[in-house]
Amino acid sequence: MRVLVDGAADVGLDPLDRGLQYGDGLFETVAWRRGAPRLAEYHLERMATGCDRLGIPRPPERALLAEMAEVAGAGDATVKVVVTRGSGPRGYRPPRAPSPRRIVAGFEATAAPAGPWQARLCATRLGRNPSLAGLKHLNRLEQVLARAEWDDPGIHEGLMLDDVGRVVCGTQSNLFVAAGGRLVTPRLDECGVAGVMRRAVLAWARACGLDAAEAHVTVDDLRAADEVFVTSALIVARRLSSIDGSPLAGGVLHEEFIAWLEAH
Ligand SMILES: Cc1ncc(COP(=O)(O)O)c(C=O)c1O
Repeated sequence: MRVLVDGAADVGLDPLDRGLQYGDGLFETVAWRRGAPRLAEYHLERMATGCDRLGIPRPPERALLAEMAEVAGAGDATVKVVVTRGSGPRGYRPPRAPSPRRIVAGFEATAAPAGPWQARLCATRLGRNPSLAGLKHLNRLEQVLARAEWDDPGIHEGLMLDDVGRVVCGTQSNLFVAAGGRLVTPRLDECGVAGVMRRAVLAWARACGLDAAEAHVTVDDLRAADEVFVTSALIVARRLSSIDGSPLAGGVLHEEFIAWLEAH
């Protein structure tokens, strides 16, 4: 792993950084392929709108891209970008003029298991909070608890429900459900992360005239679907073949999306 903090290597991190103290910040996980970031524009836009929503000054894009390139190199890598509100005095109150901090880390690219994937329903629920919904913010304890629920390597993803029982997403992915000629992804206005790959799937669906919508999704919808798949920046798309051992129908929409993405 190679890390830059505000562009510099070998610098320690201030223990009073608000990202560490309060999860006061945002992150992006970027798939770096053949020396370039995949979906760079979507990552930068999400980071910028997330900063605006939290009142954190936007990090300079050119510096971010240059630091990503420095830690990733010319081949394939996984790049994690964390932007925090920076340091501050003790207490929740944000500083009036924050100096945001950038932490950019490059990791070896690891191949996600080939599909189809087996999934489980997680017992840990997502709390609903519209003021944080959609953001890729640093508070990920719900996902940490959910991911701690299983260690069977044959289970590839856990699906998470909100506190009223709607299916929202995977622990580290967004969800798509195809049924009756319609492609649906759960609404993210109360919880969940608005994934860059989810945005790409919706763009693809629009480009090829598919009927695609954001809607509430139930576990019964998954069981009755023609195809269920999950997406993320790193995995692109993986079809789910079962939930808690019950088989799901198989379809090829996810493959059509992958082919489209590769061609663009
Ligand atoms: C909770 C959660 N939801 C959704 C996603 C997918 O987002 P993206 O497509 O931006 O990778 C991730 C990715 O890590 C995630 O952690």
